[in-house]
Amino acid sequence: MYLRHLQLGSFRNWDRVDLALRPGPTVFVGRNGEGKTNLVEAVGYLATMGSHRVAGDAPLVRQGASQAVVRAALRREDRELLVEIEINPGRANRVRVNRAPLARPRELLGLVKSVLFAPEDLVLVRGDPAERRRFLDDLLVSRTPRLAGVRSDYDRVLKQRNALLKTARMARGNALATLDVWDGHLVDLGGQLLAARLRLVADLAPHVTRAYAGVAGADAAVAALGYASTVPLAGDGTPVPEGTTLPTAGEFSAALRERVAERRNEEVDRGMTLVGPHRDDLVISLGSMPAKGFASHGESWSLALALKLGCFALLRADGDEPILVLDDVFATLDADRRAALAAVARSAEQSLVTAAVLDDVPPELRSTVVQVAGGQAVPLDPEAAEDGAVREEVT
Ligand SMILES: Nc1ncnc2c1ncn2[C@@H]1O[C@H](COP(=O)(O)OP(=O)(O)OP(=O)(O)O)[C@@H](O)[C@H]1O
Ligand SMILES: [Mg+2]
Repeated sequence: MYLRHLQLGSFRNWDRVDLALRPGPTVFVGRNGEGKTNLVEAVGYLATMGSHRVAGDAPLVRQGASQAVVRAALRREDRELLVEIEINPGRANRVRVNRAPLARPRELLGLVKSVLFAPEDLVLVRGDPAERRRFLDDLLVSRTPRLAGVRSDYDRVLKQRNALLKTARMARGNALATLDVWDGHLVDLGGQLLAARLRLVADLAPHVTRAYAGVAGADAAVAALGYASTVPLAGDGTPVPEGTTLPTAGEFSAALRERVAERRNEEVDRGMTLVGPHRDDLVISLGSMPAKGFASHGESWSLALALKLGCFALLRADGDEPILVLDDVFATLDADRRAALAAVARSAEQSLVTAAVLDDVPPELRSTVVQVAGGQAVPLDPEAAEDGAVREEVT
């Protein structure tokens, strides 16, 4: 799939931008703070309905405006897809696909496939488990849109159950009876989420291992993925061997039910739900060691890149050609890693690359360059861009 046209209104620093795009690589170049990342953030928003930089929607709306609009024309094989999102912080967003309003904005999820790699992705390796859970669940939903409902229902049940546990702590008794009902929902939805996450980790792992070898070189340690769960059946973090038969959602539910029963008293004492997919983690390892706490800065960076390239390869293997977005990443890579990433970017149906300095981007990706400056995005003649780059270096 590729983005044929992108229009933003009151999105971040953009008052209005209207941009025609082509398949193949496009580089957005411009000085720091001109709005390059903001442009590609909007592309990421089309896929995940979230930003890779902030948790809520409010920062995405241009200061002084009350709503932001992202409008995109996408081409998938020979079909055209028009997606329009109104971002209304504090109120429900509104989404239209081919001019028909969606009953729920989350119905958009899974329609636009894109994989975004940015400096922020270092937190996938070094940050809290919550970052990795979000990474897994976003990819899950992108592959299996039905799970968007399961994820949000699970979150809702968890909130209710936690609220109830807090009351139960004060007045044991009645609240505990109601708790059984919530346990039922938690166990049912949690089992579905666990099954889906385990399937995903098993499917993604070989792609990440391969991508890491491609990025870090064949003689580097082997990168692997495991799942560490509060439900023992769902994994202890060791790599999931290829070809393993995984338990079913029903089996995960049963195991979760058992754990919930075991820890009931502790949960009431602490007033929170202590077991379930919301407490789990994706374990990224390098050789025999977990990456978090052990991997060097360069290794962590390469692992983050391999995770995203793994997603790209997985979606591709599913039969969807995702848009590859690379935000400000070439400047920090060494020559070999640049070349490895450039090869992937060139193979993508469309890749959108941002850089402050055009020379940091491998020449084979510079066929289409868009200059971002002064609130405008203007396509440059590639030869003029080359000249510009040379002149800048000379003067
Ligand atoms: N909601 C908003 N309203 C107005 N301006 C905003 C908003 N959010 C961010 N900005 C501004 O957008 C500007 C551009 O941000 P962006 O991150 O896209 O820059 P960039 O071109 O990627 O820069 P760099 O090369 O440093 O990565 C920043 O100066 C920021 O202050
Ligand atoms: Mg940027």
